[in-house]
Amino acid sequence: MIIEIFTLFPEMFNVPLQASILGRAIERGLLQINLHNIRDYAIDRHSTVDDYAYGGGPGMVLKPEPLFQAVDSVLGKNPKCPIVLLTPQGNVFKQSIAVRFSKMDKIAFICGHYEGFDERIREHLATEELSIGDYVLTGGELPAMVVVDAVARLKEGVLGSEESASTDSHFSGLLQYPQYTRPPDFRGWKVPEILLSGNHGAVAKWRQEQSLKRTLKRRPDLHPERPSSDKSD
Ligand code: ADE
Repeated sequence: MIIEIFTLFPEMFNVPLQASILGRAIERGLLQINLHNIRDYAIDRHSTVDDYAYGGGPGMVLKPEPLFQAVDSVLGKNPKCPIVLLTPQGNVFKQSIAVRFSKMDKIAFICGHYEGFDERIREHLATEELSIGDYVLTGGELPAMVVVDAVARLKEGVLGSEESASTDSHFSGLLQYPQYTRPPDFRGWKVPEILLSGNHGAVAKWRQEQSLKRTLKRRPDLHPERPSSDKSD
């Protein structure tokens, strides 16, 4: 899978992309991440990428020319892949979107900074807008890393079998069941008997019940018994 990231701060990606599972996936060629500095595509000799908002107001707005130029030169004139703009105004990212993206060969992400984007970037360059939650960050870089991480770990071969995504919270639409490891008794807090029983059927049933119970308690909006008309999808 190829991921093209357009950013004013490519150096922010260095550590997360080198460490751990993502670093290993890149090393093994399962994932290719290309970072493009938007400033390199500025059209004036001062490398200007932002400007004041027409109509006034605080903060600077990301200019359209450098971004259109960057995307055109990297993806060509009629790109087939999604071009995702990270913004607090976007649809809220969730597992089903990660699953959809994980089936693609290529995705591009645009990370903004400053007060916002020129609206023509939203209307004529991005194919979708994503938010990672209802709070405002200083830029789209951290959100892009969140999305890339969630997508990459779903690609075949990225997680080892011992780290399978299939038991994750949200994979089945439910939160994950409680997990325990040794010791069986820690400070008097015991591991539920059933997990020590060796009865795989009973363990699977217990886990399913725990997942449902936990989802109902913590995230009733995700619970399958909730009428589907209530679910924002
Ligand atoms: N840029 C700033 N805040 C953001 C958020 N919550 N999600 C996506 N992009 C952002």
